[in-house]
Amino acid sequence: MGIYFLLLVVGLCWGQYNPNTVPKRTSIVHLFEWRWQDIAEECERYLAPNGFGGVQISPPNENVIITDPQQPWWERYQPISYKICSRSGNEEEFKDMVKRCNNVGVHIYVDAVINHMCGANAGAGDHATCGSYFNAKTEDFPAVPYSGRDFNDHKCKSRSGNIEDYHDISQVRDCRLVSLLDLALDREHVRSRVAAYLNRLIGLGVAGFRIDAAKHMWPADVKAILDKLEDLNTQWFPAGTKPFIYQEVIDLGGEPIKGSEYFGNGRVTEFKYGAKLGTVIRKWNGEKMAYLKNWGEGWGFVPSDRALVFVDNHDNQRGHGAGGASILTFWDARLYKMAVGFMLAHPYGVTRVMSSFRWPRYFQNGKDVNDWYGPPSNADGSTKTVTINPDTTCGNDWVCEHRWRQIRNMVVFRNVVDGEPFSNWWDNGSNQVAFGRGNKGFIIFNNDDWSLNVSLQTGLPAGTYCDVISGQKEDDLCTAVEVHVAADGMANFLIGNEDQDPFIAIHVDAKL
Ligand SMILES: *[C@@H]1O[C@H](CO)[C@@H](O)[C@H](O)[C@H]1NC(C)=O
Ligand SMILES: *[C@@H]1O[C@H](CO)[C@@H](O)[C@H](O)[C@H]1NC(C)=O
Repeated sequence: MGIYFLLLVVGLCWGQYNPNTVPKRTSIVHLFEWRWQDIAEECERYLAPNGFGGVQISPPNENVIITDPQQPWWERYQPISYKICSRSGNEEEFKDMVKRCNNVGVHIYVDAVINHMCGANAGAGDHATCGSYFNAKTEDFPAVPYSGRDFNDHKCKSRSGNIEDYHDISQVRDCRLVSLLDLALDREHVRSRVAAYLNRLIGLGVAGFRIDAAKHMWPADVKAILDKLEDLNTQWFPAGTKPFIYQEVIDLGGEPIKGSEYFGNGRVTEFKYGAKLGTVIRKWNGEKMAYLKNWGEGWGFVPSDRALVFVDNHDNQRGHGAGGASILTFWDARLYKMAVGFMLAHPYGVTRVMSSFRWPRYFQNGKDVNDWYGPPSNADGSTKTVTINPDTTCGNDWVCEHRWRQIRNMVVFRNVVDGEPFSNWWDNGSNQVAFGRGNKGFIIFNNDDWSLNVSLQTGLPAGTYCDVISGQKEDDLCTAVEVHVAADGMANFLIGNEDQDPFIAIHVDAKL
């Protein structure tokens, strides 16, 4: 009875808030624009062996093909139908990916674009990834099917039909987001078409959904759709498991729509997290790492058990979406690794690691004019495969931040310290900070312009530990800095301010 009772309680308390990862796998990675075949391989060869819990994939449904500019990444946010058919692969490849990833305990989270269809200026014809006919002007999408009455034109009160004023809640939810044809999610027909799409994915074995543009939908409409969803496939998940839901609500404060309005449906993406962490690590606006002592709700974020967090995402790493210039990305690798390290060590929220492709970033008047670039592609427009170099990094302009030693080892750190309290905080009043996670792990940063030499209480059992940032434990050897923890838990740390990575992380699975 004990186990059943526990499962029941966990089920009731968590439901759509639980990422449904296998035990002791705590983080997910966004493999932005990857092909399904490459993701299946990555689950087997890298993500499962390194303790990743899951993958957020790019939208799998049919989208419009845009030629000016040439196949931008954002064309995938312009649905034409709910056929599983995109640059990432066809339905057979999708099924194969979900099965192979699930079989090694790595789950799939689908980016669900359900607020809208393609842009109003997308024309008419069959220039869609599966060749389905559509007419944007007459709002005709026979492959779903949707027609004019399935869109919100009659409800939108703005002059242009687009969202003009983010302080007008009805406009934000009933008008077109950058001209995208806005679905009437109060209509039963639309709700049931969307739910049928999501249920088909659930049937194939996905573990949950990122709900794109949730801020642009009424929370009750999202709920009505979620209420139609089936439990997860029992081939891989316990009976009665609900899909994990995290809703894209960009709430940096200062707008009337709040993330909290969506808590009843699932988690929300906490955009303040990356915006603030970037500001602190860059030391802008007088911010210091010492101020991170009460990181989390203390910074005005949503409750930890309602948050999905990330340092950067596919939008704000290229200046789209929220966050602005403070957002740290792979382009600022040294600071980025510190930020991701801090995120993965800190207990707040469910964590998502970004994995990007490189593009020819080029600023004119402060704006990246190449922010639209799609994934690395062949001459025929097909997405390039992710090649793996002998040193385990990726080729073909795939950045693969999740394979950077410092980031991958911190994903493992988070798994090792899972459930342990935030403990033994120390700071020097400036940008040298440290904290532990119970008696399982400890991390220390030096983001000041001078070196650090300090003895601290780690909370860890006595022994010699191998730093997982400057290297790692391999068999019984340490390729990195060694940290000696005394019988009383104290250890001395030395971090030069010009070290390649000015932070050290140790945990009980990296004890020599
Ligand atoms: C920060 O740390 C350094 C060295 O650990 C120390 O010299 C300094 O006084 C500390 N405090 C401040 C406010 O910089
Ligand atoms: C670090 O501090 C300790 C104790 O103050 C001192 O003995 C040691 O020499 C210092 N190490 C360095 C490299 O400055």
